Amino acid sequence: MSVHKTPVHPDIERILLDEPTLRARIKELGQRISADYAGRRLTLVGILRGSVVFLGDLMREIEGDCQIDFMCLSSYEGKGSTGRVRVLLDLREDAEGRDILIVEDIVDTGLTLSSLLDLLGSRKPRSLEICALLDKAECRKVEVKAKYVGFEIKNEFVVGYGLDYNEKYRNLPYVGVLKH
Ligand code: IMP
Repeated sequence: MSVHKTPVHPDIERILLDEPTLRARIKELGQRISADYAGRRLTLVGILRGSVVFLGDLMREIEGDCQIDFMCLSSYEGKGSTGRVRVLLDLREDAEGRDILIVEDIVDTGLTLSSLLDLLGSRKPRSLEICALLDKAECRKVEVKAKYVGFEIKNEFVVGYGLDYNEKYRNLPYVGVLKH
Protein backbone atom coordinates (compact mmCIF):
# COMPACT_ATOMS: atom_id res chain seq x y z
CA MET A 1 0.00 0.00 0.00
CA SER A 2 1.42 3.40 -0.94
CA VAL A 3 1.54 6.14 1.66
CA HIS A 4 -0.84 8.88 0.58
CA LYS A 5 -0.07 12.40 1.67
CA THR A 6 -2.46 15.25 0.80
CA PRO A 7 -0.61 18.22 -0.68
CA VAL A 8 -1.29 21.44 1.22
CA HIS A 9 -3.13 24.11 -0.74
CA PRO A 10 -0.92 27.21 -1.27
CA ASP A 11 -3.52 29.47 0.41
CA ILE A 12 -3.41 27.43 3.58
CA GLU A 13 -1.12 28.60 6.36
CA ARG A 14 -1.29 25.34 8.28
CA ILE A 15 -3.40 22.25 8.64
CA LEU A 16 -5.36 22.31 11.88
CA LEU A 17 -7.13 18.94 11.59
CA ASP A 18 -5.85 16.37 9.15
CA GLU A 19 -7.85 13.53 7.63
CA PRO A 20 -6.99 10.80 10.16
CA THR A 21 -7.76 13.15 13.05
CA LEU A 22 -11.14 14.08 11.56
CA ARG A 23 -11.97 10.46 10.77
CA ALA A 24 -11.16 9.22 14.27
CA ARG A 25 -13.16 11.92 16.02
CA ILE A 26 -16.17 11.53 13.73
CA LYS A 27 -16.14 7.80 14.41
CA GLU A 28 -16.34 8.56 18.13
CA LEU A 29 -19.17 11.02 17.61
CA GLY A 30 -21.04 8.44 15.52
CA GLN A 31 -20.68 5.86 18.26
CA ARG A 32 -22.00 8.24 20.92
CA ILE A 33 -24.92 9.30 18.75
CA SER A 34 -25.73 5.67 17.89
CA ALA A 35 -25.84 4.78 21.58
CA ASP A 36 -27.84 7.86 22.60
CA TYR A 37 -30.48 7.36 19.91
CA ALA A 38 -30.62 3.56 19.98
CA GLY A 39 -34.10 2.30 19.15
CA ARG A 40 -35.21 5.73 17.97
CA ARG A 41 -35.60 7.13 14.48
CA LEU A 42 -33.08 9.92 14.15
CA THR A 43 -33.34 12.76 11.64
CA LEU A 44 -30.05 14.46 10.85
CA VAL A 45 -30.67 17.99 9.63
CA GLY A 46 -27.69 19.22 7.65
CA ILE A 47 -27.28 22.97 7.38
CA LEU A 48 -26.28 23.83 3.85
CA ARG A 49 -23.76 24.20 2.63
CA GLY A 50 -20.94 23.92 5.15
CA SER A 51 -22.09 20.71 6.81
CA VAL A 52 -22.30 18.43 3.76
CA VAL A 53 -18.89 16.81 4.03
CA PHE A 54 -19.21 16.32 7.78
CA LEU A 55 -22.75 14.99 7.44
CA GLY A 56 -21.68 12.52 4.76
CA ASP A 57 -18.96 11.09 6.98
CA LEU A 58 -20.94 11.27 10.22
CA MET A 59 -23.99 9.46 8.91
CA ARG A 60 -21.85 6.51 7.86
CA GLU A 61 -20.64 6.16 11.44
CA ILE A 62 -24.17 6.03 12.83
CA GLU A 63 -25.79 2.66 13.34
CA GLY A 64 -29.53 2.27 13.39
CA ASP A 65 -32.43 4.05 11.83
CA CYS A 66 -31.36 7.43 10.53
CA GLN A 67 -32.66 9.78 7.88
CA ILE A 68 -31.37 13.06 6.54
CA ASP A 69 -32.96 16.35 5.65
CA PHE A 70 -31.51 19.78 4.88
CA MET A 71 -32.01 23.43 5.59
CA CYS A 72 -30.33 26.42 4.02
CA LEU A 73 -30.22 29.62 6.04
CA SER A 74 -29.02 33.10 5.39
CA SER A 75 -28.23 35.39 8.26
CA TYR A 76 -28.96 39.02 7.90
CA GLU A 77 -27.02 41.40 10.05
CA GLY A 78 -29.38 44.32 10.36
CA LYS A 79 -29.13 47.18 12.78
CA GLY A 80 -28.69 45.83 16.30
CA SER A 81 -28.66 42.36 14.82
CA THR A 82 -30.62 39.77 16.68
CA GLY A 83 -28.99 37.15 14.50
CA ARG A 84 -32.31 36.12 13.05
CA VAL A 85 -32.00 33.87 10.06
CA ARG A 86 -33.93 33.73 6.85
CA VAL A 87 -34.86 30.24 5.73
CA LEU A 88 -33.87 29.75 2.10
CA LEU A 89 -34.63 26.03 2.08
CA ASP A 90 -36.80 24.33 4.64
CA LEU A 91 -37.20 20.73 5.78
CA ARG A 92 -39.06 18.39 3.51
CA GLU A 93 -40.57 16.48 6.39
CA ASP A 94 -42.62 17.76 9.29
CA ALA A 95 -40.43 18.16 12.39
CA GLU A 96 -43.22 17.40 14.86
CA GLY A 97 -42.58 14.36 17.03
CA ARG A 98 -39.16 13.67 15.50
CA ASP A 99 -35.77 13.25 17.11
CA ILE A 100 -33.86 15.98 15.33
CA LEU A 101 -30.12 16.41 15.40
CA ILE A 102 -28.91 19.57 13.67
CA VAL A 103 -25.58 18.96 11.94
CA GLU A 104 -23.53 22.13 11.55
CA ASP A 105 -19.98 22.80 10.43
CA ILE A 106 -19.03 25.39 13.03
CA VAL A 107 -20.54 27.37 15.89
CA ASP A 108 -19.06 30.84 16.05
CA THR A 109 -21.20 33.61 17.58
CA GLY A 110 -24.02 31.10 18.04
CA LEU A 111 -26.53 33.49 16.46
CA THR A 112 -27.43 31.20 13.56
CA LEU A 113 -28.02 28.16 15.72
CA SER A 114 -29.81 30.00 18.46
CA SER A 115 -32.27 31.33 15.93
CA LEU A 116 -32.62 27.93 14.29
CA LEU A 117 -33.27 26.26 17.67
CA ASP A 118 -36.12 28.71 18.27
CA LEU A 119 -37.56 27.99 14.85
CA LEU A 120 -37.35 24.21 14.98
CA GLY A 121 -38.28 24.11 18.66
CA SER A 122 -41.57 25.80 17.83
CA ARG A 123 -42.43 22.88 15.56
CA LYS A 124 -42.60 20.52 18.53
CA PRO A 125 -39.96 17.92 17.72
CA ARG A 126 -39.62 15.05 20.19
CA SER A 127 -36.02 16.11 20.79
CA LEU A 128 -33.75 18.76 19.32
CA GLU A 129 -29.96 18.73 19.68
CA ILE A 130 -26.90 20.05 17.87
CA CYS A 131 -23.87 18.26 16.54
CA ALA A 132 -21.14 20.67 15.40
CA LEU A 133 -17.83 19.65 13.95
CA LEU A 134 -16.08 22.77 15.23
CA ASP A 135 -16.76 25.11 18.11
CA LYS A 136 -15.22 28.55 18.51
CA ALA A 137 -16.48 28.85 22.08
CA GLU A 138 -14.62 32.08 22.82
CA CYS A 139 -16.56 33.88 20.03
CA ARG A 140 -20.01 33.26 21.43
CA LYS A 141 -22.45 36.18 21.53
CA VAL A 142 -25.42 34.09 22.60
CA GLU A 143 -25.46 30.95 24.68
CA VAL A 144 -25.80 27.86 22.50
CA LYS A 145 -24.91 24.42 23.74
CA ALA A 146 -24.08 21.77 21.19
CA LYS A 147 -24.55 18.29 22.67
CA TYR A 148 -21.91 16.86 20.34
CA VAL A 149 -18.79 18.80 19.36
CA GLY A 150 -15.94 17.46 17.27
CA PHE A 151 -13.25 19.96 18.16
CA GLU A 152 -13.06 23.18 20.10
CA ILE A 153 -10.87 25.63 18.19
CA LYS A 154 -9.42 29.09 18.70
CA ASN A 155 -10.72 32.21 17.00
CA GLU A 156 -9.06 31.63 13.63
CA PHE A 157 -10.70 31.55 10.22
CA VAL A 158 -10.66 27.98 8.99
CA VAL A 159 -11.60 26.41 5.68
CA GLY A 160 -11.82 22.97 4.18
CA TYR A 161 -13.83 19.84 4.88
CA GLY A 162 -16.97 21.72 3.80
CA LEU A 163 -16.07 25.12 5.20
CA ASP A 164 -15.52 27.93 2.73
CA TYR A 165 -14.20 31.39 2.18
CA ASN A 166 -16.23 33.00 -0.63
CA GLU A 167 -17.35 29.50 -1.70
CA LYS A 168 -13.75 28.32 -2.09
CA TYR A 169 -11.85 25.55 -0.30
CA ARG A 170 -14.88 23.40 0.65
CA ASN A 171 -13.31 20.45 -1.15
CA LEU A 172 -10.09 20.38 0.86
CA PRO A 173 -10.04 17.10 2.77
CA TYR A 174 -8.62 18.71 5.92
CA VAL A 175 -9.46 21.74 8.06
CA GLY A 176 -6.83 24.42 7.64
CA VAL A 177 -6.15 27.98 8.68
CA LEU A 178 -6.35 30.38 5.77
CA LYS A 179 -3.39 32.66 5.03
CA HIS A 180 -4.20 36.32 5.56
P1 IMP B 1 -22.57 31.96 13.85
O1 IMP B 1 -24.00 32.34 13.64
O2 IMP B 1 -21.71 33.18 14.10
O3 IMP B 1 -22.37 30.90 14.89
O4 IMP B 1 -22.07 31.49 12.43
C1 IMP B 1 -21.92 30.19 12.03
C2 IMP B 1 -21.62 30.19 10.56
O5 IMP B 1 -20.58 31.12 10.24
C3 IMP B 1 -21.09 28.85 10.14
O6 IMP B 1 -22.12 27.98 9.74
C4 IMP B 1 -20.15 29.19 9.01
O7 IMP B 1 -20.86 29.22 7.80
C5 IMP B 1 -19.66 30.58 9.32
N1 IMP B 1 -18.31 30.56 9.92
C6 IMP B 1 -17.98 30.94 11.17
N2 IMP B 1 -16.65 30.79 11.38
C7 IMP B 1 -16.14 30.30 10.23
C8 IMP B 1 -14.80 29.92 9.82
O8 IMP B 1 -13.81 29.98 10.55
N3 IMP B 1 -14.69 29.43 8.56
C9 IMP B 1 -15.74 29.33 7.69
N4 IMP B 1 -16.99 29.67 8.05
C10 IMP B 1 -17.20 30.16 9.30
